[in-house]
Amino acid sequence: MQNRFRGRRIAVVGAAGGIGAAVADALSREGAQVYALDLRPAEAMGAGEFVPVDITSEASVAEAVTALYARSPEPVDLVNSAGIVENDVAAEDMPMETFDRVMAVNLRGVFATCKHFGRELLARGGGAIVNIASMSGNHVVNEPQRQSVYNSSKAAVSALTRSLAVEWGGRGVRVNAVSPGYVDTPLNALKRHMHDHWIEGTVVGRFARVEEIAAAVGYLLSDEAAYCCGTELLIDGGFSLR
Ligand SMILES: NC(=O)c1ccc[n+]([C@@H]2O[C@H](COP(=O)([O-])OP(=O)(O)OC[C@H]3O[C@@H](n4cnc5c(N)ncnc54)[C@H](O)[C@@H]3O)[C@@H](O)[C@H]2O)c1
Repeated sequence: MQNRFRGRRIAVVGAAGGIGAAVADALSREGAQVYALDLRPAEAMGAGEFVPVDITSEASVAEAVTALYARSPEPVDLVNSAGIVENDVAAEDMPMETFDRVMAVNLRGVFATCKHFGRELLARGGGAIVNIASMSGNHVVNEPQRQSVYNSSKAAVSALTRSLAVEWGGRGVRVNAVSPGYVDTPLNALKRHMHDHWIEGTVVGRFARVEEIAAAVGYLLSDEAAYCCGTELLIDGGFSLR
């Protein structure tokens, strides 16, 4: 699959994170011109040209899109991997500020990037968008951690993916999602004491490797997935089966 993405320009939002960095690396190794979008570069930064963005600001998203098209008029596909989670807060005690903060990134931010990147793709005849949703959008992961806002935000990402797939699929823009189970990344760092519990609940008995999530993203971006429209790939090691 060397050079599968030669000639493609692909923006990875959240590229300084565990999954985003692996996606940026994999796409770049397969020949894509990768733009690594994040709040700031980090140690984990994968391959690609760093472009700063804060997806909670529509102006920042628009600025990043303008910057990418100033380099070339060729279409830029999109991977949305930025996301945050609240740290084990009971719903009855949830500060509404926490609700707003999580939704601002996980739903509003993902909507903003889809809107701005999608508009350019529609104008250029098509392209591909992959959103990283989560197993927990469908399967309520509420044990031992409580994360009602995160779970709701990810269910919304799944619904957004299907909605955009219907709006744009007939005009050449494929919108799909990958929903990981547990992956050992900085997102879960504050919950180390829960890791044994999570691994025990996973049928294959381990965390996903970031490369295994990146492989699913690569498939959905590729021409082999031309018939995937609103598809959500659940990559959870069997966690949600029981
Ligand atoms: N790690 C898991 O177990 C797991 C499971 C299911 C789904 N996911 C989802 O996968 C995606 C990636 O998760 P990860 O584990 O790599 O997390 P991570 O914390 O390692 O990376 C997330 C990245 O998003 C960036 N980000 C946060 N807010 C941003 C903003 N406003 N603008 C731009 N960038 C912003 C962060 O800087 C960070 O680099 C997330 O959407 C997450 O919800 C993760």
